[in-house]
Amino acid sequence: MSVLVTGASAGFGRAIAKKFANNGHKVVAVARRKEKLESLKDEIKNCQIIACDICNRDELLRGFESLDKDYKDVDILINNAGLALGIAKAQNCEFDDWDRMIEVNIKALSFITHYFLPKMIENKNGHIINIGSIAGTYPYPGGNVYGATKAFVKQFSLNLKADVAGSGVRVSNIEPGLSSDSEFSLVRFKGDSKKVEELYRDSNALKPEDIAESVYFVANMPKHVNINSIELMPTSQSFAALDVYRSK
Ligand SMILES: NC(=O)c1ccc[n+]([C@@H]2O[C@H](COP(=O)([O-])OP(=O)(O)OC[C@H]3O[C@@H](n4cnc5c(N)ncnc54)[C@H](OP(=O)(O)O)[C@@H]3O)[C@@H](O)[C@H]2O)c1
Repeated sequence: MSVLVTGASAGFGRAIAKKFANNGHKVVAVARRKEKLESLKDEIKNCQIIACDICNRDELLRGFESLDKDYKDVDILINNAGLALGIAKAQNCEFDDWDRMIEVNIKALSFITHYFLPKMIENKNGHIINIGSIAGTYPYPGGNVYGATKAFVKQFSLNLKADVAGSGVRVSNIEPGLSSDSEFSLVRFKGDSKKVEELYRDSNALKPEDIAESVYFVANMPKHVNINSIELMPTSQSFAALDVYRSK
């Protein structure tokens, strides 16, 4: 079985790639940083890599075409690559940050799904596993476009499920809460490691291996079972109270 994981150079994607490879799957690892993908390949062996920006459709298509036959027919597509940029309120954000999140989290994810779906339908077999976020459900200040991209992932997953019903193809959305030990917050805070430290301080947050475990679980349910979504949070995380701003 071939499993394609986007964003496999770090964080969740790397842990997911390892989990599947260690359980005998062929893994196609996609991300921009070639050296990180090479080191993953050295570690897990049964792996082919595509080093490119997933927003570059030509490079991506060349990468898909370059795969060996037994890697090319992807059975499980894990749309994991994604990012948040900034935590400012909407009125103070850079539009370029919004644009980039939409490009990666929505457009690239849709393009890759659109590429692999017809073959899955033809094979009457396949599983699309998207990595959403609790940010797609629960709003918070500074979540603005990031949360909206994950709300897209949530609804897109459900709408895909509606379209593929009866085809044997499955669709799932994994929605994690606060997770440490990935580069996510360093990217979001644009390299400010002090802010990252403060965010995770004494939080006992989720780890990439917890996400990999959830993804592996949904993929390994019997074929007649489709887990639509899994929302997971660290035990320490909860919901903020609804704010009321008073005039006096
Ligand atoms: N960490 C959290 O708290 C959290 C919570 C909920 C959901 N999520 C979601 O989980 C997913 C993975 O996050 P993570 O925590 O593992 O973050 P991460 O450590 O920053 O990993 C992101 C991965 O995506 C790749 N990537 C980013 N932009 C790309 C692009 N344009 N083209 C190709 N690859 C790209 C990165 O690789 P390169 O830099 O090498 O390209 C990296 O491998 C994301 O979708 C994120 O939104 C994270």
